[in-house]
Amino acid sequence: MPPARFEVLEDGTIAVEQSEEKQAPGLAWRDEPRGLSLYHGNCLELLDAIAAKYPEGRFDCIFADPPYFLSNGGITCHAGKRVKVDKGKWDKPRGADETHNFNLEWLRRCQRVLKPNGAIWVTGTLHVIFSVGYALQQLGFRILNDITWEKPNPPPNLGCRCFTHSTETVLWAAKNELSKHSFNYALMRRLNRGKQMKTVWTMPAPYRAEKSFGKHPTQKPIALIERCLLASTNEGDLVLDPFLGSGTTAIACLHAKRRCVGIELDAAHLELAKQRVVAEVEATRDLFTSGKIMKSPSQGEASLANSLRAVRQPEKP
Ligand SMILES: C[S@@+](CC[C@H](N)C(=O)[O-])C[C@H]1O[C@@H](n2cnc3c(N)ncnc32)[C@H](O)[C@@H]1O
Repeated sequence: MPPARFEVLEDGTIAVEQSEEKQAPGLAWRDEPRGLSLYHGNCLELLDAIAAKYPEGRFDCIFADPPYFLSNGGITCHAGKRVKVDKGKWDKPRGADETHNFNLEWLRRCQRVLKPNGAIWVTGTLHVIFSVGYALQQLGFRILNDITWEKPNPPPNLGCRCFTHSTETVLWAAKNELSKHSFNYALMRRLNRGKQMKTVWTMPAPYRAEKSFGKHPTQKPIALIERCLLASTNEGDLVLDPFLGSGTTAIACLHAKRRCVGIELDAAHLELAKQRVVAEVEATRDLFTSGKIMKSPSQGEASLANSLRAVRQPEKP
């Protein structure tokens, strides 16, 4: 493991030599009572520093929505208009070898910072998911499930040369073969009206309300991440999102009473995440301080039940 250039202190702040200050990751925002911390920086560097501080592992769970490297200048349909696929510099294709190397590097670091019984969720489309799956196998994770997230209203395929892309995959994997991962089987079954929950989850793209502070080009629905967290973690658990984007994982954690560390490289995306999370903290403040959402049934469960209801009565995304 390369020596970490930064030191993560007990209180979550980062100690760094003055000469390194400009490029160093930094703690951008935190809410102590709820255990939410948002960092600005490169997750590869920050994860090295976290691993140095916590060699036995730090996180109960990781939700990662990494770059899919699909912004190749092709044409897609957005809000009824033909637009170029350009989600940002971070999403430009790099070729198969470089993409796989990147996936190995960030997944290796994620594995190191997971607790022995921790697990990871990773999203992807055909552009990256095979590389991610292979990297998980190479690193000795134990793949538990491949969830298919089906989108009921995908954009049409303008090229008409293949089927309309309407799904994403979410891989769920335990840290290694020895890990005793958590699975809230009974809760998932109850939320699926008494039947075992299957691996195909039908959920719409994020609702308009989830984009009220601005748009992130690859934002995930809160309900998707909430379900992953409710299935595999418990109240108070610490969750990492190394590619935070607009902060969806932090909001899902807030709803489900999990703590969260989020890392985002792009300053504008981080600012959006901060605004969303601060607003959500404010919106839930009364409930939080009165203790109402600490009592069972858990707020997460109620919120998932709400999101299931929402699937049945879809609002226009
Ligand atoms: C697919 S998006 C995540 C979207 C997020 N799940 C949401 O709901 O908004 C990936 C994010 O990772 C960020 N990113 C790319 N490389 C990174 C790195 N090395 N460290 C931290 N963040 C990175 C990008 O700026 C982008 O916002």
